[in-house]
Amino acid sequence: MKRIGILTGGGDAPGLNAVIRAAVKTAIIQYGCEVLGIRDGYDGFLDKQGIIPLGLKDVSGILPRGGTILGAANRGNPFARKVLQNGREVTMDVSDEIIRAMKRSNMDALLVLGGDGTLRIAHELYQKGIPVIGVPKTIDNDIGGTEVTFGFDTALNTATEAIDRLHTTAEAHHRVMVLELMGREAGFIALHAGVAGGADVILIPEIPFKFESVVAKIRQRVERGSLFSILAVSEGAKPVGGEQVFSRGGDEIYLPRLGGIGQRVGEYIEKQGFESRVTILGHLQRGGTPTAFDRWLATRYGAAAVRLAARGGFDRMVALRGGQITDVALEEALAIPRRVDPNEDAVITARGMGISFGDE
Ligand code: F6P
Repeated sequence: MKRIGILTGGGDAPGLNAVIRAAVKTAIIQYGCEVLGIRDGYDGFLDKQGIIPLGLKDVSGILPRGGTILGAANRGNPFARKVLQNGREVTMDVSDEIIRAMKRSNMDALLVLGGDGTLRIAHELYQKGIPVIGVPKTIDNDIGGTEVTFGFDTALNTATEAIDRLHTTAEAHHRVMVLELMGREAGFIALHAGVAGGADVILIPEIPFKFESVVAKIRQRVERGSLFSILAVSEGAKPVGGEQVFSRGGDEIYLPRLGGIGQRVGEYIEKQGFESRVTILGHLQRGGTPTAFDRWLATRYGAAAVRLAARGGFDRMVALRGGQITDVALEEALAIPRRVDPNEDAVITARGMGISFGDE
């Protein structure tokens, strides 16, 4: 193995730089191998200045930094890319161009740091001859084949801190505070932060809720003398028999954007006579320095990805199982996305302590 490439695709997540640093250091120090960084996800392959050498100096000091020194793009699908043709925007498959650019740069492996969309593209590129290795990244923690993705722990800590802050003001004003959290179709951030922060109601996509049950919980608390309540609401949560709420529709490039369920819940609660305020935590969950856990996990993933490349383990993704780093076929990791199991211990624990999921 003489030369490897690294790219960061999709939305960013805390820990991307820690993976890049670990991969660059391991490739250079352990394998005496050269490293190239591809800018802005797969888009970098289409740009003359899009491929840059990465040496030890380039990764010095980046371990605690959020974002990614390589840039990211969550509309950079080479199989469906928007390009201008005769002044009109059209969608084109530019994957062959990427394959030619990769071959020209003589990479023996391409490490792809991404979520399900980016990793799916990596798997398709492998089928066209690109030696890819996946590294599971996302704050949503929704990738199969691994117990945890890097970025999740940082988002969880930010969300938990937000709940703590809402608690004090909720208590002071005797209000209901609704906190809308990210996660797409997976409720891990809301569930874990809700339990860690002591929320009274947790609404997640995996457990459809009833508005009346949410209000019943708030009323019960008031009757028992707790004049405030905290709700952790996942952006993908939906009422029984109802739909998810989107702030923007999707197209062949962008996924539809979830957002607004917190507001709906807050408005309903107010109409029932309980003063409410809604906070959308948004991209604060994606930004900032990674937690120690995410740095530790990202570092292990980055080094393991290089070792996997050296063994020729292409079309596979590094993963964490039972605390050990291992690897799984990309196809297997992508087959079944990770979701909260409504019968899992965390849900049972929460229910047992009186936390409502709005479904009773
Ligand atoms: O997948 C990560 C995530 O932060 C989701 O939780 C959220 O729905 C989405 O990305 C937001 O994406 P964008 O970067 O397009 O705002």
